[in-house]
Amino acid sequence: MKKIKLFAILATVALALVSCSSKPEKTIENLKNAATGEANASEKYAKFAQKAQADSMFNIAAMFKATSEAEAVHKANHLKVLKELGVDFSPIIEGVNVITTLENLQAAMKGEDYEVSNMYPEFIKIAEQEKAKKALNSFDFAIKVEAKHSQFYNEAISLISSEGNDLNVNKAWEVCPVCGDTYKKGSVEKCNICGTDASKFKTF
Ligand SMILES: [Fe+2]
Ligand SMILES: [Fe+2]
Repeated sequence: MKKIKLFAILATVALALVSCSSKPEKTIENLKNAATGEANASEKYAKFAQKAQADSMFNIAAMFKATSEAEAVHKANHLKVLKELGVDFSPIIEGVNVITTLENLQAAMKGEDYEVSNMYPEFIKIAEQEKAKKALNSFDFAIKVEAKHSQFYNEAISLISSEGNDLNVNKAWEVCPVCGDTYKKGSVEKCNICGTDASKFKTF
């Protein structure tokens, strides 16, 4: 009887050790996909900023520079989690389709909406199932910020469509270096998402 009990205890310990050391395989793939998405979004917004600049839409250019930086923060966060899981990964950057600034804004908003409604909710659900806490945190930072980007693009689309220029679009932006949260300059003293002091924000 004692032997059976001892065996049961050893089997439980062994199982616990195996589950501790096993990697969150689906989340690793999701982190790679998310890092690739963020890297490409960052590149895309940088190109959209150049186009807006060339069109003399300087406020839109500043906004795209800020959102480009935010996506770079998300990419870096996802890659850091991958590294901690023992995975070295370099996202592949694809070519960017630059159209008119209004169409670029519409394409950008569509991309954000996909991430907020489809991609990140699914990745978050799986990270919870796999108990991948750091990945969950990184996905959570990103989904909150992408929802704001979508709103900013939406506001800008309305203004450009009704006024024919970007003069009333917000002029200066700030990005939190920890979570990528994006603010109209001077609107907060601390990051609403991660608590980082606004003095550490990058301005555009
Ligand atoms: Fe975004
Ligand atoms: Fe933050």
